[in-house]
Amino acid sequence: MSKFIIKGGKKLSGSVRISGNKNAALPIIAATLLTSEKCRLENVPEIKDVHVLLEILENLGAEVAHPENNVYEIQCAEVSKTKVPDDLAKKLRSSLLVMGPLLARFKKAEMVHPGGCVIGRRPIDAHLDAFRDLGAEIKEDQGYYTAKWPKLKEQKIFLGETSVTATENCLMAVALEEGPVTIKHAALEPHVKDLAEVLGKMGAKITNEGASYTVEGKKELSGFTHRIISDHIEAGTFSILAVASGSEITVTDCNPENLEMILVFLKRMGAKFEIGEHQVKFFPSKDLQAVRKIECGMWPSLPTDIMSPFIVLATQAKGDTLVHDWMFEGRLFFTDKLIKMGANITLCDPHRALIVGPTALHGAKLESPDLRAGIALVIAALCAEGESEIDNAYQIDRGYENIEGRLRDLGAEIERVN
Ligand code: EPU
Repeated sequence: MSKFIIKGGKKLSGSVRISGNKNAALPIIAATLLTSEKCRLENVPEIKDVHVLLEILENLGAEVAHPENNVYEIQCAEVSKTKVPDDLAKKLRSSLLVMGPLLARFKKAEMVHPGGCVIGRRPIDAHLDAFRDLGAEIKEDQGYYTAKWPKLKEQKIFLGETSVTATENCLMAVALEEGPVTIKHAALEPHVKDLAEVLGKMGAKITNEGASYTVEGKKELSGFTHRIISDHIEAGTFSILAVASGSEITVTDCNPENLEMILVFLKRMGAKFEIGEHQVKFFPSKDLQAVRKIECGMWPSLPTDIMSPFIVLATQAKGDTLVHDWMFEGRLFFTDKLIKMGANITLCDPHRALIVGPTALHGAKLESPDLRAGIALVIAALCAEGESEIDNAYQIDRGYENIEGRLRDLGAEIERVN
């Protein structure tokens, strides 16, 4: 298992290019199962989650070519299997995203309960209920799901919760139905809209009004070429790194519009930055101030996936910050590792942490429990005096492409040890 060794306390400088959005790439890769034609995906992040999902597609019978870095060509003409291998399904929660397209094209799908980040219970009821509402018959037996979809039952469904991947699964499940089918109480994150755009390129007509999507699909969808949008969580992560470490860093190839809420909070905390068309330039800012409360929400609120880096930033700001993540009951447990580094944090309950700052952090031996906590620990280690070891780098590799190379380009002292 590889780990990172980081010598912290240095100011960083330079530019960092933001990768393609992980959570857009994953459903778009799954969407290639909807057609037998070739699909070309550009700006795909080279990360573990993407590689595992591609392995799942190959296992089902897809042909996957990798003509250059960040570009994949996928053709699902020969797909014959509809069962996701257990070991691969357990490696990532997004394996669930193949269920919608498999049901749409082959009318059946089979898989074990998916794995993924250990940040909470993460039930998949929103998906199963929505599939059932659409007309699927799903048997559950000790964590195994066997689904059949004889025909579309409802043309209007209401999601039990505004789940990102359940919305995506429903959009794909009905993309081969003439419809129209309306999915209400749906998620509106930029990655969901990127998938909707791809389904449009494939021939489905998708309209979005408020929190609803209406899909008029087509019996046969075509191949597509698509450039994945940039990752606003990664852009937010590097932005927080710049502010927390007092560094002059330009975050490039991003869409500042998708960073709005993150930038609002950074500004309230005293961050100094200039917004360009596709970039944000951060300047060192002294006297970071705590904001009283940082709470996550569905789009366009602050994304839950940026809460862990914000906790690290709060340790560097003057005053008390209450961080509230109501979505995941395990997201905040990594704060014990920040306490080990010198942070003053009280975990009030599984969803709330009170951070009192500023505190000087010092290096420590740590382990990355999940993707976002892992990157938060990297930021903390870069801000801390002395050396830190962050074990279980695999978690960070799941979502951040070549993180050590890009940090080194900014002047960070970080090494990977296998
Ligand atoms: N939830 C509610 N009420 C809601 C919406 C969600 O209680 O209205 C709960 C769910 O029950 C679940 C949690 O919040 O426990 C997450 O919800 P969701 O179903 O939306 O999560 P997801 O679709 O499985 C995607 C991202 C996650 C991200 C969440 C929330 C992908 C592949 N994954 O997961 O990304 O945290 O949406 O935005 O898109 C990550 O990238 O690190 C990651 C975990």
